[in-house]
Amino acid sequence: MSNERTLVLVKPDGVQRGLTGEIISRLERRGLRVLAAKMLQPDEALTRLHYAAHVDKGFFPGLMAFFTSSPIMALVFEGQRAVEVARQVSGATDPVEAAPGTIRGDLALDKGQNLIHASDGVEAAVEEIALYFRADEVLSYERDVDRWITGS
Ligand code: RTP
Ligand code: MG
Repeated sequence: MSNERTLVLVKPDGVQRGLTGEIISRLERRGLRVLAAKMLQPDEALTRLHYAAHVDKGFFPGLMAFFTSSPIMALVFEGQRAVEVARQVSGATDPVEAAPGTIRGDLALDKGQNLIHASDGVEAAVEEIALYFRADEVLSYERDVDRWITGS
């Protein structure tokens, strides 16, 4: 099976609510491994690049205010079908519609404050990882336990 990389952000609400560890833990326990991690506070330029698809939407000013309001944690996760798995573990964009058992479905209420970002495709993941990390900041390694997760 494909070994993919995806960008995950613990958004400002996740850091402020002390849910950074919980969010990382859920993805790690699912079987993904962390290749990179850093804390940063997004500025307007980064927000425009990260949410380039949404800059003309009516909700963008609110999204900008939220995303730049507090530090976030950026992570690269890797593993079998990591892009799809991280989206699934995150749950639907609107937490009220997100399935129980997902991060948003268990821990959030509001569409504007939905705790986590996860890349929505393999190509988007490559672009987003480059937005947050230099190539030498993203490690490449395997864990002994990975053979017990993927069977290979
Ligand atoms: P994200 O990019 O943040 O991981 O979230 P997503 O893929 O699940 O959702 P997306 O459609 O990309 O929207 C990006 C973020 O914009 C906010 N949003 N608000 N008020 C609204 O109608 C609305 N729609 C989207 C959400 O915070 C969403 O996470
Ligand atoms: Mg999105």
